[in-house]
Amino acid sequence: MIALPDTILIVDFGSQVTQLIARRVREAGVYSEIVPFQLAEDGFARLKPKAVILSGSPASVTDENAPDIPRVILESGLPIFGICYGQQALCQQLGGRIEGGLTREFGRAFLEVQKASPLFEGIWAEGTRHQVWMSHGDRVTALPEGFEIIAASPGAPYAAIADEERRIYGVQFHPEVVHTPDGAKLLSNFVHKIAGLKNEWTMAAFREKAIAEIREKVGDGKVICGLSGGVDSSVAAVLIHEAIGDQLTCIFVDHGLLRMNEAEEVVTMFRDHYNIPLVHVQAEDTFIDALEGEMDPEVKRKTIGRLFIETFEAEAKKLGGADFLAQGTLYPDVIESVSFTGGPSVTIKSHHNVGGLPERMNMQLVEPLRELFKDEVRVLGKELGLPAHFVGRQPFPGPGLAIRCPGGVTRDKLRILREADAIYLDEIRKAGLYDAIWQAFAVLLPVQTVGVMGDGRTYEFVCALRAVTSVDGMTADFYHFDMEFLGQAATRIINEVKGINRVVYDVTSKPPGTIEWE
Ligand code: XMP
Repeated sequence: MIALPDTILIVDFGSQVTQLIARRVREAGVYSEIVPFQLAEDGFARLKPKAVILSGSPASVTDENAPDIPRVILESGLPIFGICYGQQALCQQLGGRIEGGLTREFGRAFLEVQKASPLFEGIWAEGTRHQVWMSHGDRVTALPEGFEIIAASPGAPYAAIADEERRIYGVQFHPEVVHTPDGAKLLSNFVHKIAGLKNEWTMAAFREKAIAEIREKVGDGKVICGLSGGVDSSVAAVLIHEAIGDQLTCIFVDHGLLRMNEAEEVVTMFRDHYNIPLVHVQAEDTFIDALEGEMDPEVKRKTIGRLFIETFEAEAKKLGGADFLAQGTLYPDVIESVSFTGGPSVTIKSHHNVGGLPERMNMQLVEPLRELFKDEVRVLGKELGLPAHFVGRQPFPGPGLAIRCPGGVTRDKLRILREADAIYLDEIRKAGLYDAIWQAFAVLLPVQTVGVMGDGRTYEFVCALRAVTSVDGMTADFYHFDMEFLGQAATRIINEVKGINRVVYDVTSKPPGTIEWE
């Protein structure tokens, strides 16, 4: 067995921002995992954590069926840090009192430090005031034995409490969000100064652990990996290759829906730079012929998904099959999310990049990035020697340019879209904006409009430009370019791309729009 790193267990009571707690702890150099409260006892036994953090929750401890902290955690003698609901549950279960419906407090608040504590060491001195972010309706009104107030705010007299001897802490505010400016340092104090954990969760350490795990799991079996050209599958492939060498074969299905020069870049990098066995399947005709004339977005997506599986399967058969399928699944895809609306059950999101394949092909999965967040994958990619411009690439959807060509897809439309997209991204890079934008791309509308170029009338397609900022792709705001930039990009696209005579900018946020157009 591979030894687990020193771990912080985060018990998720369903807060919207639980993932941020894990990120902050990892940023502090300590490994953390989130476990839904229903599975907290199992998680505690499996992970053998060195400390526990309890998340916030949409529930109220005054509700009849409010979730509890397992006794094994409370009685473990480990350091515990309760946030919002976590603090209230701690107090309730340890003999204090919670009341609901007093003052509700949402958003920015200021607390005053009442007493020095290791939790505040190096950041907050006694008597000073600090901004925090609150979001609560209930609050603690009587402390359990052994606890004292270490900070108070007007709406939350028990804004931060501590039992220094038992190393149990609770805060009413949310230290994990950026609106609590010192929150990350506070969490860092908990893991380092209170729990005594070292700064050991580095990508170099992860890389070593992951390689050992892959070797142990795969043995002398054969692994195939579907490369999409995206960051996740590429990093997974390079990591696995480092672990098991040529027992890995990558299959790159080029469906003809990639961006300018994308296929060449992937093939060159993997084959020539990394020397990874790579099957480059040129399947453009299969995909584009199947899509021709198809207008329905869902049918387009399903057609691409089905053809992808069929092509991949056929290539894998040619290789004589494999024992394992490698995928670039990330941590946010595997976190079991807590559901309060759907009853007490745990909703488990299962996300397969190559949906359905493992079952169909009777293969086991190798998912070496299952524990990582996207930004951590980028750091790992750099650690493995992937070029910075490659690991920093914006996300690109599996169905590719097909869903950026609303309506029917043709080779000619794809050519036009590819050229416009390349110019747009070139302008964004030149303006130094690439890293500030979550995703930027061109969309070719199935609409022709009249224009005038030189002395002649034109009747050509409209290109829509899209750029959004986002944290996770779930919500997004359109990017606020200045008009000069948009004008410059539009002029270049119209002048340089044959087939486009008008450019518009999409100012829709998500919701109500989606990031992609189909
Ligand atoms: P939407 O359009 O749903 O997109 O707002 C959210 C994020 O998901 C990406 N996306 C996909 N990624 N396969 C993928 O791998 C897909 O079928 C797919 N559809 C959308 C999209 O680019 C954005 O980052």
